[in-house]
Amino acid sequence: MRIYEEADYAAVSRRAANLISAEVIRRPDCVLGLATGSSPIGTYRQLIAWHRQGDLSFKEVTTVNLDEYLCLAPNHSQSYRYFMQEEFFNHIDIKPENTYVPDGLAPDPIEECRKYDNLLRTLGGTDLQLLGIGHNGHIGFNEPGNEFVKSTHVVDLTPSTIEANSRFFPSPSDVPRKAITMGIGAIMSTRRVLVVVSGEDKAEIVRAAFMGPITPKVPASILQIHGDVVLVGDTAALSRLTETEVKACGF
Ligand code: GLP
Repeated sequence: MRIYEEADYAAVSRRAANLISAEVIRRPDCVLGLATGSSPIGTYRQLIAWHRQGDLSFKEVTTVNLDEYLCLAPNHSQSYRYFMQEEFFNHIDIKPENTYVPDGLAPDPIEECRKYDNLLRTLGGTDLQLLGIGHNGHIGFNEPGNEFVKSTHVVDLTPSTIEANSRFFPSPSDVPRKAITMGIGAIMSTRRVLVVVSGEDKAEIVRAAFMGPITPKVPASILQIHGDVVLVGDTAALSRLTETEVKACGF
């Protein structure tokens, strides 16, 4: 694992965008696994800025998102499809048909999960997977549990995730209780994992995920056995890691 310690959210976003743009420049037809949440917003803004300057094109890129709430329409302001359109896709030159997000309105969600795994297989997996980490260690919507679920699946969101995500909804009771998420199998089969974390409130879970035991109780901990993980965090989010741990992983 490589760790980049940055001063603040702006620097984290710039570094993460740099790593993504390197991938896109090196492999213009790459497949990017994308994430929602507040952590990657700055990264998307930086990529948009470089695109506007004429330095970066997404014309041949394909994107596959991690997850979507069940029962939210793509044009619902809190759906992850809507988030991706507003925060990224509408501002770059990606072909709309090359952007994939699970369909939260699929009449048969189990079938939708199967289709999503087939899609991932057809694409040959992702070249780079961007990830944030939930406060309980979830990645995508792979919530803490007794096992790592490999394939795309329907998940019951935990009370802590519902609570954390209620900040985007009028009230906690408006937060969907279920979601479709890419499984740990697809996340782990990406060529490179890029994790972005920011803020003191993530410090504890960052330590548990990257320095603690590998356990489905902390889904992100599985990343410890991926061969190419880049963790980009600000000083606050990395504050529970010792200097030796950061140095041992950094370069
Ligand atoms: C949501 C998303 C995750 C994201 C997490 C953390 O639950 N499903 O993919 O990583 O929130 O979000 P944030 O970056 O806002 O802390």
